[in-house]
Amino acid sequence: MKNDESILILDFYGQYNQLIARRVRECNVYSEIVPYNISIDKIKEKNPKGIIFTGGPASVFAEDAPKCDPKIFELGIPILGICYGMQLMADTLGGEVSRANKREYGETKVNISPSPIFEGFTDNNVCLMSHTNFVSVVPEGFNVIGYTDSCPVAAMENRVKKLYGIQFHPEVNHTVNGTQIIKNFLFNVCKCSGNWKMSSFVEESIKALKERIGDKKALCALSGGVDSSVAAVLLHKAIGKNLTCIFVDHGLLRKNEGDEVENIFRNQFDINLIRVNAKDRFLGKLAGISDPETKRKIIGEEFIRVFEEEAKKIGTVDYLVQGTIYPDVIESGLGKGETIKSHHNVGGLPDYVDFKEIVEPLRDLFKDEVRKTGLELGIPEDLVFRQPFPGPGLAIRIIGDITEDKLDILKDADAIFREEIKLANLEKDLNQYFAVLTNLKSVGVMGDERTYDYTVALRSVTTSDFMTATWSKIPYDILEKVSSRIVNEIKHVNRVVYDITNKPPATIEWE
Ligand code: XMP
Repeated sequence: MKNDESILILDFYGQYNQLIARRVRECNVYSEIVPYNISIDKIKEKNPKGIIFTGGPASVFAEDAPKCDPKIFELGIPILGICYGMQLMADTLGGEVSRANKREYGETKVNISPSPIFEGFTDNNVCLMSHTNFVSVVPEGFNVIGYTDSCPVAAMENRVKKLYGIQFHPEVNHTVNGTQIIKNFLFNVCKCSGNWKMSSFVEESIKALKERIGDKKALCALSGGVDSSVAAVLLHKAIGKNLTCIFVDHGLLRKNEGDEVENIFRNQFDINLIRVNAKDRFLGKLAGISDPETKRKIIGEEFIRVFEEEAKKIGTVDYLVQGTIYPDVIESGLGKGETIKSHHNVGGLPDYVDFKEIVEPLRDLFKDEVRKTGLELGIPEDLVFRQPFPGPGLAIRIIGDITEDKLDILKDADAIFREEIKLANLEKDLNQYFAVLTNLKSVGVMGDERTYDYTVALRSVTTSDFMTATWSKIPYDILEKVSSRIVNEIKHVNRVVYDITNKPPATIEWE
């Protein structure tokens, strides 16, 4: 993965840090986010072509302000400081930072002077500003290359030492020439060649995994989700039959999903796969349970039990494969300067399984990069672009207690909904869509008969981060078709409702 050309991003806790890393990678240059207090030796070891300081909420005046080793400015490596990163650069090198009376926030026109980082700009030079402190005097050797009505130093440069600072945020879309600044820094200043590609990631990873694992054995918990699937196929390409995947089918997957997963991994990739059909066992444990959190806990624990039992049959393995991805790594505390914890997709798994080391082949990738890797590896599009599906599965989409009959009703209703969305070509516009079996029964009429049956709720949301979401405006004729198919084709459902609540205040799932 590591490329001979990389950019280090020093994390000062800015809210847009992941975006900076992505923007750099979108320019085909490998980037890595590292803690702000990374040692000089470590930087030398990584030998980056350039360094970016992120923004952050701190003030350089604060006693506990995050500060990097000042020797970083003597390495001869180009540095771009953004917002707090620029203020830190100015403060460390003898300039002056001042405190404004009020925060400047919003889109502002910046007046710029010619500079290698401003090449190729369009006239509309609007930037997103979000700061209280500002640089009032630039350090010796620096020039002011940008200002706004309220900010005397919106950008500065020391062209000889290749040090640049900008007060605004180039990584966000609101900054019109933002991507151009990042490109200019990478190619004009750092002289990157931009040869990093996903296909080189696949080749390099397979080679590195082969060298690392050799002819030892590895074990992977396969859920059928994107991350664990891509990790498994990558490992399989590297070590073939020395990889064993355990797929615990808890019976709470969507209709036919268990068979689809098995078919892809066993037949298409010829992966050593153990499928454990544990539906009865899970339903047994869940019988009579209505509380959502208890359901989650039971499923999580049972999952580990089943995995552990299967793993024990195999005996000691050398490596446990995890589908950890870059946002998991970052969320696990990288930016706080803490030890990086391994993020467990399946809670607590490594404590229970006898293995020597963890392999996390995707830990440097963002979700869209994982998807690209999946496509490179030949994993079917349906799986690569699969919508998120919760670990506890349909258990949290059946409100109240779970029975086999309810599970069958929900699987069928959900399958109809997904089928119609696919037919209407709406799959890519909707980020998550599914059916919920409510525990509400109501009166209906079928032919001459009165019915007293279940209500199915349909839920669909549009979201990019799943933290907030808006309900999808699916055309009425499609909703109508889904509704009439569900009540006509599925026994014991006589009413379908559509959830028109945003998150917040609702959540995406109903439990
Ligand atoms: P909510 O319902 O909190 O969901 O708005 C946000 C996202 O998280 C998924 N989700 C889960 N995923 N285990 C998971 O692996 C869970 O217990 C769980 N609960 C919610 C949900 O599907 C949505 O994508």
